Amino acid sequence: MDERVEIVRTTKPSREEEAEWLGKQLAEIEKGNLVTLVAEINGELVANSEVAQRTPQFPEMSHIGVLGIAILKNARSVGLGTALMESLIQLAKQMNLKVVILDTFATNNIAQRLYKKLGFVEVGKIPKGIHRDGSYIDMLRFAIEL
Ligand SMILES: CC(C)(COP(=O)(O)OP(=O)(O)OC[C@H]1O[C@@H](n2cnc3c(N)ncnc32)[C@H](O)[C@@H]1OP(=O)(O)O)[C@@H](O)C(=O)NCCC(=O)NCCS
Repeated sequence: MDERVEIVRTTKPSREEEAEWLGKQLAEIEKGNLVTLVAEINGELVANSEVAQRTPQFPEMSHIGVLGIAILKNARSVGLGTALMESLIQLAKQMNLKVVILDTFATNNIAQRLYKKLGFVEVGKIPKGIHRDGSYIDMLRFAIEL
């Protein structure tokens, strides 16, 4: 978050917000609606990633998953993103998901290269999907059929 990367969360959560978030995450994991993968280097958490069932409450769309990934700057470009994404895709299949989607800033070229490398296809664009620091940035949606 301090690195101001191209992800939508921009404010640092309070300890209470983090605790509430963690509780919800654990509940979703227990229900089988969410898998998360983290990576550590020398005991320091450097990456967090997940696939969540998009709308467990709506059976007609419950085959769709949403993927998110973020790696700290000092751990990027050494293959961690690829390894986490490959594992998430396998886990998504085990969750019986049929399609995984994700949204990314149109300016995030590195993320897009990673997604395309793993078979994701650009399926849509929300013009001016992000408003950051007084400028608008398009938001791209990618999808992969499993
Ligand atoms: C996007 C992100 C997850 C990629 O993870 P990563 O561990 O750096 O990715 P990898 O090292 O596995 O590289 C995957 C591909 O990305 C591209 N890439 C990675 N680092 C790159 C760099 N410095 N320059 C150009 N392309 C790069 C390459 O295409 C690479 O594949 P290749 O090595 O086979 O050519 C990571 O940069 C990140 O967390 N960024 C900040 C948060 C973010 O943008 N999250 C995504 C929001 S949608």
